[in-house]
Amino acid sequence: MRTDYAEVFQSEAAVEKYEQVVYAPETYATAVSGRQRAFLRRLVRREFTARRPIQHDFACGTGRAIKLLHGVVRAAHGYDSSEQMLAKAREAGVYAKLHQVSEDGPVPEPATTDGPALVTVFRLLLNAPKDVRDRAIAFAARLLPEADSGLLVVENHGNRSSLRHLRHRRHRGNTWFAELQHAEVEQLLARHGFEVIDRRGFAVFPAGAYRREWLRPMARRADDLATRSRRLSGVATDVLYVARRIPK
Ligand SMILES: C[S@@+](CC[C@H](N)C(=O)[O-])C[C@H]1O[C@@H](n2cnc3c(N)ncnc32)[C@H](O)[C@@H]1O
Repeated sequence: MRTDYAEVFQSEAAVEKYEQVVYAPETYATAVSGRQRAFLRRLVRREFTARRPIQHDFACGTGRAIKLLHGVVRAAHGYDSSEQMLAKAREAGVYAKLHQVSEDGPVPEPATTDGPALVTVFRLLLNAPKDVRDRAIAFAARLLPEADSGLLVVENHGNRSSLRHLRHRRHRGNTWFAELQHAEVEQLLARHGFEVIDRRGFAVFPAGAYRREWLRPMARRADDLATRSRRLSGVATDVLYVARRIPK
């Protein structure tokens, strides 16, 4: 866990790396994102039949999770503390109103409370300090005061109960190698009155398998199949949790 997490993204170099290296074509992250896209679009179509939701993407970065839902939500708002990440999102033509928020202090004000809402928090929880995690979920709770206000979807891109864990010894002392357990995510959500109603995995093979050209096609095919199984989310490297407010 990093204490300087927000600052790390306040540089042009970090933005370029995120876009050009982490999310380059053929990478593990890009394959995961493609699978998440299909899942999320189905989720919105299935769960919001009366009225399409407004998406609120907390820690939106360059707008990846907003782009995954282009065309299926009524409108989108992205919130992030990094001016540089938001500038990149604007440059990429993300269909959303983008808001720069402070990295700490009071929970940011949502741009609108018109419902229903779909709150997304992707690739933030794993490496962020505890107070940042709580602040993100407190933000979601503002938008989702009741069980029928909409849904919250959060990503854990470093599930401890996965093959990725085999590398933890090699990464001892590396502050970028964090791990998060399902129970920690569930407890975080429960602290803010949310219950997990679905959990899906988007890769079983770790990122390293996608870096080896000879192994990548096999890993990709196996993950395409494996991630259709709800049960395998327990051991997936990358997991999405769908949650709603516990009925009062
Ligand atoms: C790894 S990026 C994830 C971006 C995007 N959600 C995605 O999945 O591609 C983490 C993002 O969290 C933002 N961030 C870090 N600390 C934050 C904070 N305290 N409040 C709001 N955003 C924060 C960073 O600026 C960065 O854009």
